Amino acid sequence: MTTALITGATSGIGRAMALALSEAGYEIYALGRNEAALESLRAERPGITPIAVDVTDREAMEAVVSGLHVDVLINNAGMMPPLGNFADMKMADIDTALEVNLSAAIALTRLVVPQMRERGAGHILFTGSSAAHAAFANIAVYSAAKAAISGFAASLRVDLSQYGIRVTEIVPGRVETQLYKDILDAKARAAMYAGNVAVQPEDVAKMVVALLSLPAWADVTRFDIMPTRPTSASGSK
Ligand SMILES: NC(=O)c1ccc[n+]([C@@H]2O[C@H](COP(=O)([O-])OP(=O)(O)OC[C@H]3O[C@@H](n4cnc5c(N)ncnc54)[C@H](OP(=O)(O)O)[C@@H]3O)[C@@H](O)[C@H]2O)c1
Repeated sequence: MTTALITGATSGIGRAMALALSEAGYEIYALGRNEAALESLRAERPGITPIAVDVTDREAMEAVVSGLHVDVLINNAGMMPPLGNFADMKMADIDTALEVNLSAAIALTRLVVPQMRERGAGHILFTGSSAAHAAFANIAVYSAAKAAISGFAASLRVDLSQYGIRVTEIVPGRVETQLYKDILDAKARAAMYAGNVAVQPEDVAKMVVALLSLPAWADVTRFDIMPTRPTSASGSK
């Protein structure tokens, strides 16, 4: 059975990908910190293996990966630091945003690449963001991390294509998830998605299932998925 390790699988896009890929016949290793959410994922789809871990814990991540055969790696875990002008940002929020959104994904990729190279096959995906490719106010460090993910994915593809390893950058615009749960109250979040139909996590998951089903010689290097109509004045992330 083809295996897929998915970070940020307790919620939103990662959870939808875990369910859709499990449905499509993949063996899923679902990573996240929220143990109740991992348990609910397993209850919904008993074939999924939940793994409680913080992606920024290097030692724990090494222990997780050392025992696993990984055909597909989806670096999806991410967080949004408090919205606001960069001039007012706290250093601790900058560090966390870079660690979770960027360094953890690079570190995990480093752990998984050797086994893929040995097998001459594999697929590594990154959940980037439209914020990597256009300028938006109040998210400078998040944008920087996602732009770095984009550059990393592009260069990684050049390094790894000779080993038959595919690399895909997923570029979502605004998707209706819990991404803003720690920084906006429920009313502000509802307003963000109000007015029109937002992209749903399941929509992103469908694209991922489709691109993974292509033959090994075809690599979808990047796909963008945006709300057809803007869901609020600022439109994206
Ligand atoms: N929603 C959007 O509009 C949008 C747009 C563009 C890109 N994205 C990107 O999509 C990805 C998924 O986000 P989402 O929108 O689905 O938001 P979400 O519902 O908040 O999911 C975020 C996931 O990341 C995990 N995570 C965060 N910090 C972690 C840590 N330190 N260790 C382990 N897991 C951690 C969370 O799991 P635990 O809390 O259980 O650890 C959760 O499963 C992110 O990379 C985000 O930047 C989202």
